[in-house]
Amino acid sequence: MTDRAPAADGSCPHLPDGPRLTAPQLRAMETEHLLASWEAYARTYGPVFTLHTEDTAPRVYVGDPTAIRQLFISDRTTWHARGTLYFRPVIGTQALPYLTGEAHRTIRLLLAPPLHGEPLRALGPALDAIIITVLDHLRGRRKPLIDVTRDITLRLIVRAAFGELAPHRHEHCVHLLTEIMDLMYEPAATSGSDPEGLLRQIGSLVQQVQDFVTQEAAAAREAPAAHRNDLVFHLATSQAAPADEQIRGHIMSLLIAGHDTTASALAWALYQLELHHDVRHRLHTELARLGTALTPANTVKLPYLNAVCAETLRHGSVVPAGLARVTPADLDWNGYSFPAGTELVPAIHLVHRRPDLYPDPERFDPERFLNHKPPGTHYLPFGTGTRRCPGAELAEFELPLALARLTRAPGLRLIAAVPGLRTVKNGPTMTTPTSLQVTLDTPPTPHATDARDTQP
Ligand code: HEM
Repeated sequence: MTDRAPAADGSCPHLPDGPRLTAPQLRAMETEHLLASWEAYARTYGPVFTLHTEDTAPRVYVGDPTAIRQLFISDRTTWHARGTLYFRPVIGTQALPYLTGEAHRTIRLLLAPPLHGEPLRALGPALDAIIITVLDHLRGRRKPLIDVTRDITLRLIVRAAFGELAPHRHEHCVHLLTEIMDLMYEPAATSGSDPEGLLRQIGSLVQQVQDFVTQEAAAAREAPAAHRNDLVFHLATSQAAPADEQIRGHIMSLLIAGHDTTASALAWALYQLELHHDVRHRLHTELARLGTALTPANTVKLPYLNAVCAETLRHGSVVPAGLARVTPADLDWNGYSFPAGTELVPAIHLVHRRPDLYPDPERFDPERFLNHKPPGTHYLPFGTGTRRCPGAELAEFELPLALARLTRAPGLRLIAAVPGLRTVKNGPTMTTPTSLQVTLDTPPTPHATDARDTQP
């Protein structure tokens, strides 16, 4: 045991140094300048620092590759994750981010088959069809880019979760989830200042999605089909099938985590391509070389396209930090003592912005990843260790394919894509601001005014 009496200035001498924030300061930091503050703390205190707050356990941010390997990659199966508080009203506590040890491992194994290999590749044509539908809805309109990319990725994760549903069932589920996300992200706009009313509204929608999952799980059990490879089918019909309540929690968390993140990455990639004409030109040339052989399988193998996606995930810090892990007992590490209950966070953004790993880190430069695969402690957009994102392979399939299709979509045009836009925090994800918009110009007709002149 170690003596952990506070020092004269009130700080705990056994934790790495770091800032102390009051609750309002923490809120302001998180909502207004999260990433810039982390960078400033890392400059002042070093890449491993502790954030002390009034009401919560000390939280240690780890932005050093060696420390990441030592603290997160070694066997930490008994460490609880603190889950995400933000989405708890939506996903409940019966989901992967709240499980530990054997229970966590069992579900990860159960979910692996539909999230790897052939079942993913089989989603390619569905994604193509989804993009056509979404672009059709956009024609002649103008929407926030993030809403459009979210519509695409939401439709795909619903497909991955439930398989091929009847069209009205698919639309119903997409509609419910869109409403939930709108309420989560724009509570003030949609619900005034009535947090309880808002929670009730969200609760009622969540209940409807949960009922939907229960019905689909029952249908999967009643009529098991050998060709089905969706998540509900795997969970509901496996020999070790979890109880319905848990199936609902897992599916809910996959539906949310499985679309919001990829949507943000896709929006950031499109924005960067708009700013960097050289990158866009090179990508177009690579895609054009495929000619008519632009199948999903061929597309996702293109080296420059994949380099653009990898750089997007590094540069855009879509999920800037991994889940907080809670130390179950006192831990001594590198001259520090972490008391039981300390929260440790892989600070993904800080690693990705280190100039020693990525020279001129602010620059968007896919060249960094062309013919170069950095080690997992230098490049970790999907986190690390036993909690590494289970949807990484799906995201790495979906992102390049959707980007390839959208960059070639005739008439697709970003609006207000000015340099220097900063992402905004929406729960655990950083998304493009709603000021960044997109439209799909209708084909010009003779004598028609140019759509560009008529946009409000
Ligand atoms: C570009 C897209 C994505 C990014 C950047 C991303 C990033 C992450 C990160 C950083 C974590 C935390 C890992 C850690 O703490 O070490 C995570 C966890 C998770 N992600 Fe993703 N993710 C993406 C897409 C997806 C998709 C498509 C799915 C579902 C199919 C998904 C489902 C999850 C789940 C369920 C967890 C919790 C894992 C656990 O607790 O074991 N994510 N993701």
